Amino acid sequence: MEDRSYAKMDRGSYANEYDPTAPEDFDSSYQVFADLRAKCPVAHSYAFDGFWALSRYADIVAALDSDNFSTYVRNVIPSSSLTGRRPPLHLDPPDHTPYRKAIDRALSARRVAAITPLIYRHADALLDKLVPLGEADLVEHYGSPLPALVFGEWMGLRAEQTQVLWETGRAYVKAWEAFDRDTVAKASKKLEQMSVEVIAERRAAPRDPDVDPTSSLLAARDANGNAFPEHLLAACVRQVLVVGLVAPPIVLGSIAVHLCRAPDLQSHLRMHPELLDEALEEFLRLYTPYRGFARTSKTEIELHGRTIRPGEPIAMMYASANRDPAVFEDPDEFKLGRKNIRDHIAFGRGAHRCAGMPLARVEMKITLERLLARTRHFELCGPVVMSGMPELGPISVPLRLEPA
Ligand code: HEM
Repeated sequence: MEDRSYAKMDRGSYANEYDPTAPEDFDSSYQVFADLRAKCPVAHSYAFDGFWALSRYADIVAALDSDNFSTYVRNVIPSSSLTGRRPPLHLDPPDHTPYRKAIDRALSARRVAAITPLIYRHADALLDKLVPLGEADLVEHYGSPLPALVFGEWMGLRAEQTQVLWETGRAYVKAWEAFDRDTVAKASKKLEQMSVEVIAERRAAPRDPDVDPTSSLLAARDANGNAFPEHLLAACVRQVLVVGLVAPPIVLGSIAVHLCRAPDLQSHLRMHPELLDEALEEFLRLYTPYRGFARTSKTEIELHGRTIRPGEPIAMMYASANRDPAVFEDPDEFKLGRKNIRDHIAFGRGAHRCAGMPLARVEMKITLERLLARTRHFELCGPVVMSGMPELGPISVPLRLEPA
């Protein structure tokens, strides 16, 4: 049996080479990443019980190989061990594969196309309330509720369940940012209860597994032909419930800040919605919302003169990889028409690459399209508040909005 215990880092003679707990503003992390990539590509951090931070694109892509690197031990820094192991993210292949296939089944292109008009409807309904306010926090009032409403549609939740998901998801994310473990535990419990409830409802009245993720997980079988164990099934539905709530508001917040600083680009994209798909990919590269998920190496490895022992947490800094000049020319510039834009790893890569990528892309594009269409201009009217690790980006973006 593979050793899945988590090795607390030995500080040894290492300095604290990367401190993600230091105060950050909208731009500061990118200079830190540039320095790390150039001078210290395998950086040792004292934060969160210690971890290694990989900052170069090539090293991170190599560490996304599930044969040699695991998500069983640590998949996120700081640790979320409080809330237990949840498939698919917390399992390695082959254990991971049947859960992932069951989720993918309910996220086909056809399924995403069916949800698309509903996303437009929700986006406009939120903007109907937001734009007349004149001044509002874009993340709080638009970026954060929209993903919960989209999830409600995708998971076929009842209106009151969607409301609970939105409120609990928001409380969970805020508490996580504030390291408020008690509130995280309470919110997590509520989400667990909701997953148990949704599973019971789908058992009593099964839906089409090509449409409904919970029914797809109930219909799936593991490699031995058995249904998923009840606790992992509930944990998986629990993970699916929240997994797509965190990143979209942060990406939208980052895009809004960028467009406030670049009003010409804001006007250009407003006049040319046909550019939005391409612009979105470039924004995802530039403002990758996950600073880094984690892995542990299955064997002892040497990398750039550092020795990483099995079980020691490794943060793969996706947000740094996507600004690596070895891969992306002028990496800090927003440029439409980059030939290799599809090489960005904002959605990860390999076995755990984001299952919700097609839905997330449509959701983000509609969000941006409707915001631009419903406004003549928007600008910042207060301080931008930043998230902490594992995310990177704003969690509060106060805007003054001029209606179209
Ligand atoms: C802008 C939006 C999003 C971004 C940037 C994003 C990014 C990511 C990343 C980087 C991972 C890989 C984690 C790793 O390497 O360990 C991931 C995993 C995952 N994402 Fe997303 N995500 C987004 C939205 C969504 C949405 C809307 C859904 C659901 C429909 C979703 C479902 C998942 C799932 C289920 C996994 C786990 C996949 C697995 O372990 O096989 N994500 N996401």
